[in-house]
Formats: sequence, C-alpha cells, structure tokens
Amino acid sequence: MKVLVTGAAGNVGRYVTEELLKMNEHAVAAGTNVEKLQSMFGGEVETVYIDLTDPSTFQKALEGVDRVFLMRPPHLGKPEDLFPFIDEMKNSGIRLVSFLSLMGVEKNTIPPHHKIEKYIESAGIPHAHIRPGFFMQNLSGIHAAEIRDLDQVFVPAGKSRTSFIDAEDIGLAAAVILHNHKNYQYTAHTITGPEALTYYEIAAILTRVTGRNITYKKPGFLTYRHYYINVRGLDKAYVNVTVALYFMTRLGTAKAVTADFTELTGRKARTFEDFARKHIGCFNKVQ
Ligand SMILES: NC(=O)c1ccc[n+]([C@@H]2O[C@H](COP(=O)([O-])OP(=O)(O)OC[C@H]3O[C@@H](n4cnc5c(N)ncnc54)[C@H](OP(=O)(O)O)[C@@H]3O)[C@@H](O)[C@H]2O)c1
Repeated sequence: MKVLVTGAAGNVGRYVTEELLKMNEHAVAAGTNVEKLQSMFGGEVETVYIDLTDPSTFQKALEGVDRVFLMRPPHLGKPEDLFPFIDEMKNSGIRLVSFLSLMGVEKNTIPPHHKIEKYIESAGIPHAHIRPGFFMQNLSGIHAAEIRDLDQVFVPAGKSRTSFIDAEDIGLAAAVILHNHKNYQYTAHTITGPEALTYYEIAAILTRVTGRNITYKKPGFLTYRHYYINVRGLDKAYVNVTVALYFMTRLGTAKAVTADFTELTGRKARTFEDFARKHIGCFNKVQ
C-alpha cells in the first residue's frame, strides 16, 4: 500500500518523501504543482495532483493509499478548509494520518491546528499528531534576506528562547511514524531541536559560521510589521499571523525542549550551528 505525502514540495514534505523512500515505502508526492514535484524527485517518485480545497481531486489521490502525511498549507487560515479531506480519509479507511501540527496546540485553541487535530480525532481515524517547534528553515527562508543584506536577524521575538528544529528532522520523525504505523495509533509527538536559543545566540552562531558580524537588535512588532509589509511587500494577513506567533513566543510558548525526536528515531536532533553550516549558501552575501 502507498503513503500519500501532501505538501511534498514544502519544507517538511520533501523530507518525509525522501525518508519514506529510504525505508522502501511507496511514497506518493502530492501537491498542486505536479511539474515541480516531478522535477524535484525525478522519475523516482509517483506524483499526484491534489488541491486540499477541491474535493473532486481527493479520490484519485487516495487510490491505493493506506497512510497519509497531512500538512496544512500556510495560506489556508480556516481549520474548516481541511475538513472535507479529513472526511474523505475516514471514508477511504486510512490506517494512520500523521498531521503536521504545532507545538503547544493541545493547550492553545487559537491556531487552526487545534481544531484540525480535534476534527481528525472525532472522525475516529487512527492518527499521530506531530507538533514541532519553530523550523530552522524560517531563518534560512523568510528571514534570510535581512541576514544576507543587512547582517541582522530581524525578528520581533524580544529576549525569548526558541527550540528550533530542522524540517529534515521532522521529515525523518514523520517517516518513522508512518512506516511503523501500528505502534503510533492515537498518539501525539512534540518534536523540538536539542536546545532553546535566544535570537542573540542565533546571531552569534551566524557570526561564527559566516565570518561576518551578524547582530540582533530586538526589533519591536510595529517596526517589523511595517518593514515586512511596506519594504518586503509581503501579504498583510501573513505578516499579521507571524506577529501573533512572535507575540506568543515572547510569552515563552516556543522554548520547551523534548526528547520525542530521539525516542522516535534513536538519533540526536540537529543543532542550529550544524544547520547553518549545511545551509551557509542561504546566509552568504550574493556576489
Ligand atoms: N514554520 C514553522 O516554524 C512551523 C512550525 C510548526 C508548524 N508549522 C506548520 O507547518 C505547515 C507548513 O509546512 P511546510 O513549511 O512544510 O509547508 P510549506 O513549505 O509552506 O509548503 C506548503 C505546501 O503546500 C502545498 N499547497 C499549497 N496550496 C495547496 C493546496 N490548495 N492543496 C494542496 N497543497 C497545497 C504547496 O505545494 P504545491 O505548490 O505543489 O501545491 C507546498 O508544498 C503549516 O501548517 C505551519 O503552520 C510551521
């Protein structure tokens, strides 16, 4: 039987797919951009079109599938957006869905992940929620421009700590769960990196790794919001969500360090320093 990987072109889904293949699983990489998936994975992986907001695409994507890695595309802000696909998984007798959730949502009802978890549970589908901390890829992705161009970590997180995790590690943990699905029915896993770092410490690591003086000046919410909307030109709704997340971070919601990753995989989670060295190209100045 096959494992459907939604968001297979994304930060986490690409690694879930790769790790499943290493375990000799029949992974099916899914998304709305099949051409991109084919060029990412070559002929090695079966690909399928799925639009999580279009029920007419669900049946074909679930053909021959008994396990699903489910990711909520970040722009789908309403939890209800994912309910029709969850109903379809229930009807097709899925044996395990591993939903990419968010650290702390068991106690925090505001992020959409909370209601999505509850809906999966009430549907009675065997599930294993994955609740990761902040991704290291936020720094090599959305926040890399200021690190490269301004030598600054530009995040409104105050002096708070974050137990960053590499999306590659999340992908491995998800693949272990899906591969050994009988052992993980009706479970939840809070997966974090090995240490909780302040953004001052992140800047110090980036200084060491790049050889440039990278600083963290603790920008306020208004400065960050203005810069990201008016200078970077990012979508206002998206920027507002990130402001809310950094507000929560300042309250200490992102700092827990857990042993779940090691318990699942038998490995140590990657440090931010190792991650920064591996992805140095994202932080170096463009010549
Ligand atoms: N960043 C963090 O620190 C963090 C921490 C914890 C949890 N999370 C959660 O992780 C999730 C995002 O995971 P990610 O970073 O791996 O994703 P991502 O890199 O943002 O990728 C999103 C994926 O969604 C697919 N997609 C977009 N619209 C779609 C649609 N209508 N139907 C089906 N697929 C669609 C895209 O592929 P196509 O172009 O092929 O459609 C893309 O692969 C979010 O729910 C976020 O809240 C993030």
